[in-house]
Amino acid sequence: MKILNINSSSNKSGSTSTNFADKVVAHLLKENEGSTVVKRHTTYSNIPFIDESILGALFPQGERTEAQKKALQLSDELVDELFEADVLVIGAPIYNFSVPASLKAYFDLIARAGLTFKYGEAGPIGLLENKKAYIVMSSGGTEIGSEADFAGNYIKHFLGFLGITNVEFVKLDQLMFGSEPKIEAANKKIAEIV
Ligand SMILES: Cc1cc2nc3c(=O)[nH]c(=O)nc-3n(C[C@H](O)[C@H](O)[C@H](O)COP(=O)(O)O)c2cc1C
Repeated sequence: MKILNINSSSNKSGSTSTNFADKVVAHLLKENEGSTVVKRHTTYSNIPFIDESILGALFPQGERTEAQKKALQLSDELVDELFEADVLVIGAPIYNFSVPASLKAYFDLIARAGLTFKYGEAGPIGLLENKKAYIVMSSGGTEIGSEADFAGNYIKHFLGFLGITNVEFVKLDQLMFGSEPKIEAANKKIAEIV
């Protein structure tokens, strides 16, 4: 099994979402002998926002120029990582009711028409097939799945758009209201992953 672990918390040392994503990865490694892991941190990978050069490269008029190909180098690398992976483990805290900006910037670079999705007669078709995703989410006060959560549903919808519909959440939400039961439930959920 090839695992791609994508983390997005700005907290480098004591991040709950990263720590529990690590636990999911460790569990998958234990259960699936010979598996490998590639790690990608969206905050520390110099992922740019879509500027004019990237925009032009994403939607070129005719053949892509050499400069446009260069502008898409990181995007190509990120997309290759995704195609290589069988399982994604995404660590994501809620920041201001949504995902960290770096995770959104990452999503902007992996949504590639003709590569990761295409449009069919009935609408968009995701091209990342046969992949499973674990979304490990943490929050202070926002309940995951509530009206104020614009992160969980967004990640799930976006992955579905790319064809990844087999998605499971490991929730560590509302930690400020008492973390122990949440941690216990998350550990139990991880132990039950097959
Ligand atoms: C910039 C910032 C914005 C945050 N916004 C929210 C929020 O909108 N809702 C919420 O429940 N928690 C919010 N939090 C709290 C984090 O989601 C919470 O502490 C989470 O456990 C952090 O996960 P981490 O340890 O993986 O970074 C915010 C934290 C930061 C640093």
